[in-house]
Amino acid sequence: MYVLGIETSCDETGVAIYHDQFGLMGHCLYSQVDMHSEYGGVVPELASRDHIRKLVPLIKQVLQESYLKSNDMGGIAYTAGPGLMGALLVGASTARSLAWAWQIPAIAVHHMEGHLLAPMLEKNPPEMPFVALLISGGHTLLIQVENIGSYRLLGESLDDAVGEAFDKTAKMLGLGYPGGAKLSSLAKQGQPKHKFPRPMTDRPGLDFSFSGLKTFALNTINASENTEQDKADIAAAFQNAVADTLSIKCKRALQQSGLKKLVVAGGVSANQHIRATLTEMANKEQVAIHFPRLEFCTDNGAMIAYAGCQRLLLGQQQDLEIFARPRWPINDTLTAS
Ligand SMILES: Nc1ncnc2c1ncn2[C@@H]1O[C@H](COP(=O)(O)OP(=O)(O)OP(=O)(O)O)[C@@H](O)[C@H]1O
Ligand SMILES: [Mg+2]
Repeated sequence: MYVLGIETSCDETGVAIYHDQFGLMGHCLYSQVDMHSEYGGVVPELASRDHIRKLVPLIKQVLQESYLKSNDMGGIAYTAGPGLMGALLVGASTARSLAWAWQIPAIAVHHMEGHLLAPMLEKNPPEMPFVALLISGGHTLLIQVENIGSYRLLGESLDDAVGEAFDKTAKMLGLGYPGGAKLSSLAKQGQPKHKFPRPMTDRPGLDFSFSGLKTFALNTINASENTEQDKADIAAAFQNAVADTLSIKCKRALQQSGLKKLVVAGGVSANQHIRATLTEMANKEQVAIHFPRLEFCTDNGAMIAYAGCQRLLLGQQQDLEIFARPRWPINDTLTAS
């Protein structure tokens, strides 16, 4: 079955086609980042309008590049939440309308389920069950994954998401928006001289807190002479603290669950230092570790096509409603079917 996947939850329009046996047939992505960077963050109304402009041409492009036609499609998967309401509605209403016109089922996909399953698109996909660490612009989640749709939340951030902390710290260092990847490049030139805390690691539990690290970064910046080297040193110390904190909590989750597989996904999983720190921990613990390829760490249509295909194969689908939820807990995804 060929499944068309549509992602429009935030500032990226992503479209892909996945086949349950042949794998990923094609995918394309349009990022709005240049448009929003002028404003220092995502402007929701502009995001929605741009999705309207880009979505249909991208669907045509993916069909053409995959040498497929609309009547080859067996289903349409769309991101139904969490995300920006207007942006979600563009994807949901387009997907729902096309599914109706093409007489095929539509399935609403949870955006974080998409991120969670992105490593399944790689050559040696992990078998379930596993522990998943999802680190993105809006979420920091530790999840025990038993099966498609069976997700137990083990821990989450009580305040800022990791990506948000990266972006805010990058802004303080004058790196622009979105700053996660820029902070990471700057950190390569620095030494982690400053001793940043490893938040919430000195007490039991699997929750996170990253807003204190951001404040610690601000105080360190204010106390420095703010030279390029100072900025690089602060970036390196911040990044080290994030990586160590994530590693300590993942190790704890693996030990508590007794599972021997760790999946790391979401935009921040593109960070090379975080990948290296988590891989070192996993090797020590004799745990297999899986990441998506770099282009599927951030938002994309491929992960939505994959997740939707798995759910359609389980016989799930949406009725004729346009389903969109700006807030949607991941352990509630079964209600979408
Ligand atoms: N190399 C990197 N190092 C650190 N952070 C990074 C890197 N590359 C991307 N990021 C961060 O990843 C985030 C974007 O990831 P993603 O697209 O998954 O998030 P989102 O879709 O905005 O949020 P969510 O998925 O929670 O709704 C941004 O915060 C960005 O700064
Ligand atoms: Mg995302």
